[in-house]
Amino acid sequence: MKALRLASYAKVNLGLEVLGLRADGYHELRTLFQTIDLHDDIVLRPRRSGIVVRCDHPSVPRDGTNLAARAAEALARHGGVTQGVEIVITKRIPVAGGLGGGSSNAATTLLGLDRLWGLGLGPAGLQPLARRLGADVPFFLVGGTALGLARGDEVYPLRRQVRGHIVVVDAGRPVSTAAVFRRVDESLTPRENSYSIFLFVSRDLEGERAFSILSNDLENAALAEAPALREAIERTRGLLRGAGCSLAALSGSGSSFFGLFEDARRAGRAARALEAAGLRSLGCRTLSLEEYRKRWSRSLGPVAVRVGRTR
Ligand code: C5P
Repeated sequence: MKALRLASYAKVNLGLEVLGLRADGYHELRTLFQTIDLHDDIVLRPRRSGIVVRCDHPSVPRDGTNLAARAAEALARHGGVTQGVEIVITKRIPVAGGLGGGSSNAATTLLGLDRLWGLGLGPAGLQPLARRLGADVPFFLVGGTALGLARGDEVYPLRRQVRGHIVVVDAGRPVSTAAVFRRVDESLTPRENSYSIFLFVSRDLEGERAFSILSNDLENAALAEAPALREAIERTRGLLRGAGCSLAALSGSGSSFFGLFEDARRAGRAARALEAAGLRSLGCRTLSLEEYRKRWSRSLGPVAVRVGRTR
C-alpha cells in the first residue's frame, strides 16, 4: 500500500495586532500570514491500527499530545476510520519559534490523511477540525498571503500575494505562545478596530505595498518573557535593515525574527552580514497561494511517492 511523503511549510506573520481578550480566553487578532518554503517532511504510512509518531527532534512529543497525532485522531473519529497511521516527521522548522511548525504538521496530516483514507473532505471540510486543533492550523489548509481574523483561525487570502525572499533568524530559544499572550494582557488596551492591518490591506488594493506600517503587537511581550533575546533581536533588526529589507519583524510570538527582501541579492547580503555577526540564518522564499496549492496538488496527486513498506 502507498505511503505519502509531504512537505509541511512554515509561516511568518508579516504583521500582527492584538485587539482584546475574548470570552473564550483567546485573543482577538488581526494578522497577515505568509507561507514560506522552509519545511518539515512528513511521511504518512498506513498501519492496520493505532496512531504512531516518529520524529528526529528531541523536543517534539511522540505521544498522543503531538498535534499531528491529535489531527489524525480527530480525523479518524470524524470519518469513522478504523485504520491506523505512522506519522514520521523530519524537523527543519525551528520548534516553538513562532513559525507555525506544529500547526503546519497538523494541517498537513489532515490534508494527507483525508486523501490516504479517501474521505474527500478537502480544505473546507477539514476547516472545523483544524480550528479545534489550534488557532494557526486553518491557515495551513489555505497558505499563501492571507488575512487571519478572530483567533487567527478565520482566514481570507489576499488578492495580491506577497512575493520575495525571506531571511529567518532562529534565536534558538523556544518561547511559549501562551506565556507571551498572558504578558500582552498586562498592557493591553482593548479596541474594536485594527489600524495597521486594515491600512495595509486597503492600500494593497490600491496597488501600494505599505510594509512599513506593519508591526507585531507580541514583540514587547515576547521580549518581556525572554529578556535575553533583546540584544540579539535589536542587532538582527539593524543588520536586516542595513541590507535593505522591506520588512523586519518577529514572527508570531517569537523567537524567530525575519527579514523580507525584494531580491536575492539583498537577502544574500543580509545572510552574510548575519553570519559575520555570529547569527545563524535560514534563507528561503515566500510561497504564494497559487504556489502552495500547486505543491499540494503535486504531492497529493496520482504520482504520490511510494515510501518504504507497510506492515
Ligand atoms: O491555538 P493554539 O493552541 O496554537 O494557541 C496557543 C496559545 O496561544 C493558546 O493557548 C492561547 O493562550 C494563546 N492564543 C491566544 N489568542 C489567540 C491565539 C493563541 O490567546 N488568538
